[in-house]
Amino acid sequence: MRVGLVAVVTVAALVVSGCTHTQTPVPTPSTVSLGPGADGIGDSLYPSAGNGGYDVGNYDLDVRYDPASKVLTGTAVISATATANLTAFDLDLHGLTVASATIDGADAKPSRHADELVLTPASRLPIGRQFHVTVKYSGVPVPYTDPSMGIDGFLATPDGATAIGEPEVAASWYPVNDHPRDKATYTIKITAPDGLQVFSNGVRTGSEPAGGGLSTTTWSVTSPMASYLATMVIGHYRVLEGTADGKPVLSGIDARLPATIDAQIRRTPEIVGYLATQFGPYPFDAMGGIVIDDDRVHFALENQTRPIYSNAFFRGGGDATVVIAHELAHQWYGDSVSVNSWVDIWLNEGFATYAEWLWTAHQGGPTVEATFDDTYDNTSAAVWQSPPGNPSKRELFGYSVYYRGAMTLEALRIKVGDDAFFRIIQDWAKQRAFGNGDTQQFITLAEHDSGQQLDAFFHTWLFGTTKPLRPTR
Ligand code: ARG
Ligand code: ZN
Repeated sequence: MRVGLVAVVTVAALVVSGCTHTQTPVPTPSTVSLGPGADGIGDSLYPSAGNGGYDVGNYDLDVRYDPASKVLTGTAVISATATANLTAFDLDLHGLTVASATIDGADAKPSRHADELVLTPASRLPIGRQFHVTVKYSGVPVPYTDPSMGIDGFLATPDGATAIGEPEVAASWYPVNDHPRDKATYTIKITAPDGLQVFSNGVRTGSEPAGGGLSTTTWSVTSPMASYLATMVIGHYRVLEGTADGKPVLSGIDARLPATIDAQIRRTPEIVGYLATQFGPYPFDAMGGIVIDDDRVHFALENQTRPIYSNAFFRGGGDATVVIAHELAHQWYGDSVSVNSWVDIWLNEGFATYAEWLWTAHQGGPTVEATFDDTYDNTSAAVWQSPPGNPSKRELFGYSVYYRGAMTLEALRIKVGDDAFFRIIQDWAKQRAFGNGDTQQFITLAEHDSGQQLDAFFHTWLFGTTKPLRPTR
């Protein structure tokens, strides 16, 4: 789903019908090239992620998982619109075997190379055409192993599974235009053995027996979601349920983990409420969190409406609300407003780290100023050489993106003052809600809302390779 697409298609239609009252040169079907869609969406760090030539509006996933055999069996119905005249197009799919693929009911001749599933429709899909792809697939999912990320993907556990990773996870369990630039709504149906708990994103809209000792739960994601944020979790979990602000709250803690964790996860609505005072209204219609017991996972992830936390954050019974605040801040910055390219990642991680500082101060801990000073003073020379605004693939989730990203926001706050600063970050969440943004667009907004020229400022903090001068308050 891309904001503006409908408008573009409409203008194209006007051009075709001979109407010329438009200044924007829009390619007409006769001038748009006819050919296959690109095998990547055009991301500099992940060139084969996503695809070109179409825009997904909705995924309807019907997935069955058998923890005993570790086999996943799925049917994905993908509703999309052609953004070029397509003779063929790709979906991303990592491992798994495709049994059949159809486009609007007709065989789509699936073929595979690397992580691309190439579909060729019986006749070309003209620009603006809406179509439905149905892919039936199965197999034992294969995780991604990127040395700088650890293990990501659809991970089997002794009693179930967890789909978790960033950027790479979605294509290991469903065929997808796997890039945050093509967000879509989802309906996710998960069939698993009775007696196991199942979680996914959004609102659980149904739960029913599927026969043969299986049950199906259905999940509805009504706000566009980036593909890496989709999840499914199966296993033995303690379930915490309630409502906050009239919205369903649903959380799960792996049953093997200590019950002391529950009290921290129960604070999710309280933390969301605090963050809403800083960032504006919570963007989604449901909330919660899932704590997993899989020692291979050392991170947390901001899965839309329902972040997943490694149990490592809760060991020793300490305060884990800082990481909860981090993942919940991503609901605004990352999930509702998503990166346009992976290189924009500081817009997620810098903001979420800044939210940790806000939450810490709110809890009576060190002030944001003190945390900034401490971070500024103790950041190594290597980090000042590594610009958070232009990370390499290896540094995507590195210290600079998180901490220099957060310091950039505090330096901005010092430069423009509290009022302009909170206007900027709230406007960013509001204007780009359920869409995407890049660093240049953030800079433009900051200049607009503050009335200051900030090119040099952002250049120093985001792209410079030397330590910026200490900002003066
Ligand atoms: N966005 C996650 C966070 O909130 C980072 C996850 C990155 N790790 C990974 N293995 N993909 O910090
Ligand atoms: Zn984060």
